[in-house]
Amino acid sequence: MAIAIVLVLIVVGSILFHFLSPWWFTPLASNWDQMDNTLIITFVVTGVVFIGINLFIAYAVFRFRHREGRQAAYEPENKKLEWWLIGLTSVGIAVMLAPGLIVYAEFVHAPKDASVIEVVGQQWKWSFRFPGKDGVLGSVNPRLISFDNPFGLNPDDPNGQDDVLVQSGELHLPLDKPVRVLLRSKDVLHDFYVPHFRVKMDAVPGVLSGFWFTPTKPGRFDVACAEFCGLGHHTMRSAVIVEENRAFQQWLNAQTTFARSSEQQGGTLSALAQKGRELAQARGCRGCHSVDGSPGAGPTWKGLFGKTETLADSSTIVVDEDYLKTSILQPNAAIVEGYPAIMPPYDLSGEELDALIEYTKTLQAGAGSEAESSE
Ligand code: CUA
Repeated sequence: MAIAIVLVLIVVGSILFHFLSPWWFTPLASNWDQMDNTLIITFVVTGVVFIGINLFIAYAVFRFRHREGRQAAYEPENKKLEWWLIGLTSVGIAVMLAPGLIVYAEFVHAPKDASVIEVVGQQWKWSFRFPGKDGVLGSVNPRLISFDNPFGLNPDDPNGQDDVLVQSGELHLPLDKPVRVLLRSKDVLHDFYVPHFRVKMDAVPGVLSGFWFTPTKPGRFDVACAEFCGLGHHTMRSAVIVEENRAFQQWLNAQTTFARSSEQQGGTLSALAQKGRELAQARGCRGCHSVDGSPGAGPTWKGLFGKTETLADSSTIVVDEDYLKTSILQPNAAIVEGYPAIMPPYDLSGEELDALIEYTKTLQAGAGSEAESSE
């Protein structure tokens, strides 16, 4: 009897929780209301089954409770009931699966008038590439990825010269224009997820994946990585800024193209600083530390040398050679406030340390750097 009452209470509580709780979808900001409908259909099907089964168990517990002298009837098989159950379950499963397959087919087949962008995932940041004036993305090759060519663009491909490269963490898109998103990963599995748009897809190393959507509301929408990709997974965030076409074009024109970024490379660095720069690329430092002031999983190197930092224990420290050396060899000895302790210790030689530090010295806050500052 008590069990029957508990089961009924669970059902009533679940229904109340559903209608009273504030946890529901974020407001929709794209064309994909079909995603919501698909989820709601699944929710209704599973909800009806949940309520039905619990109430049936409660009824059976009550109706067939123990009474002196009464025995259960022996009925090992009931063909009619089995056919009913098989039929109803099949219909329920089909109703849950079919809409998802239909929407997914639409999701991965972009309309002809959609513009193309590329999203590149790496530990632990997102970068973006626009095709530029010709509307064609230049070809890429993972072997060409280097410090100076973070997207691995083929320098001999004319289509790639006007490609717009966005590495400062935020993606701008024009309102009400369909956009096809191509996904790539440089290292491990990531997942590009923008909850407000209901879009989400894995970025798989060595594979091109993609989908499309049309942003329908102006504003700033969070991007998260939805696939556990290492210690810094939770810091792998970005944002999509949806704005009127004019504001978007202005922003786009202010970004660096591949041709322009190639011109700006190299040149004035001393041999030691140049070596540090190569080392920063080879050892993967730049995955977490930007050199243009843009945010990352670790502090930016732009303007870092000589700066006064506040540490996690609220003490302050001036960033000098000793501090940098300690931070590379024992990263968790003194963490800068606001950053997670995720950096692994690096075993570098004295000469390598000197080269890296020499390189950070060249990245002064006011001075021009390799990429346009986003600050
Ligand atoms: Cu990238 Cu999680």
